[in-house]
Amino acid sequence: MKAHIAILPGDGIGPEVIAEGTRCLHALAQRHGHTFTLSELPFGGAAIDLSGEPLPTETLSTCLAADAVLLGAIGGPKWSAPEAKVRPEQGLLALRSALGVYANLRPVKVHPALLSASSLKPEVLTGVDLMFVRELTGGIYFGEKRQDADSATDVCTYTVAEIERIVRAAAQLARQRRGKLVSIDKANVLETSRLWRRVCTRVMREEFPDVSLEHMLVDAAAMHLIRRPRDFDVLVTENMFGDILTDEASMLAGSLGLLPSASLGEGRRGLYEPIHGSAPDIAGRGIANPCGTLLSVALLLRHSLGLSAEAEALEQAVSAALEAGARTPDVAGDAPAASTRAFGDAVLSRL
Ligand code: NAD
Ligand code: IPM
Ligand code: MN
Repeated sequence: MKAHIAILPGDGIGPEVIAEGTRCLHALAQRHGHTFTLSELPFGGAAIDLSGEPLPTETLSTCLAADAVLLGAIGGPKWSAPEAKVRPEQGLLALRSALGVYANLRPVKVHPALLSASSLKPEVLTGVDLMFVRELTGGIYFGEKRQDADSATDVCTYTVAEIERIVRAAAQLARQRRGKLVSIDKANVLETSRLWRRVCTRVMREEFPDVSLEHMLVDAAAMHLIRRPRDFDVLVTENMFGDILTDEASMLAGSLGLLPSASLGEGRRGLYEPIHGSAPDIAGRGIANPCGTLLSVALLLRHSLGLSAEAEALEQAVSAALEAGARTPDVAGDAPAASTRAFGDAVLSRL
């Protein structure tokens, strides 16, 4: 098949992990007879340095015309001063919004070979396989923002339609998995959460009577997630809670560098990115874990290009590399560690 993929390396470790992702895309294209056209575009802090804006018009229009977008990470201390007028993160929010990718899927699986990489006990982690569905284009991230000399405001708004569509997306996934949905909110305090709970309950009763639904308050969910992670199947939640809980959930897998994500809307086009950031503390050293990016490439192949065999081949190659002992420092413990490139080589040699 022919496909056009927009590549946004971004900042910090973004370009380092994306390089491994594009190597795998080229290898898969060659092996399976596909033509993937990759357009690399400036985004985030790198784009601010070039043109003064984090999401240049040409980057956005190329993403809108592409079959899929693969993103590394953006941001860093250079663009993070409290008084900064333009920020890399604004570009990311604008891109998600322009692409209409309201459903952010963040799967969390524990690889048996990495059980000891986590700071949690192996017996709590064995068999963990859950899926976060984070609402991505609404809530406090997108409400009105104001700051004056002695106060600041961030408005959190959700509409019924926004809640309905994300609950449906999560319930459909639960139906294909173990039929269990947990909806996470703060309905004891927030009006948006009370609306969320009411709409979620109705959609599930009317449209998904075969999927079990449990409501959980976000503070308790943060605790249950590390106390009994195996009990969870699909979790659906609003934008900011999903952001925070998925960084927490990455410690089930063993490292923030391991988790991929797919952001989907109507239609097939999607935005694919590891859940981690630009990691300024390790950027430029060639030691970032590329697994989150490689697994995001697999999600891209599956969801936007419909290439499930190729997606599985890549997931198997990552898994086999880990089984063979390939480890970047974040998951190596006391064992010898591989560079980002060497880990990429270990995956490529198994593709
Ligand atoms: P971060 O996710 O960049 O890093 C947190 C910690 O995890 C660091 O110690 C880092 O070294 C480690 N880490 C992250 N990814 C790793 C990988 N692939 N391999 C090994 N270790 C990894 O979070 P932060 O430091 O709080 O944020 C840095 C910048 O990244 C900020 O500007 C933030 O806004 C931005 N950010 C961007 C995205 C994105 O582009 N989607 C996501 C999160 C944060
Ligand atoms: C993420 C990041 C972003 C978010 C930031 C960089 C805007 O933390 O993708 O998880 O909060 O969505
Ligand atoms: Mn985050």
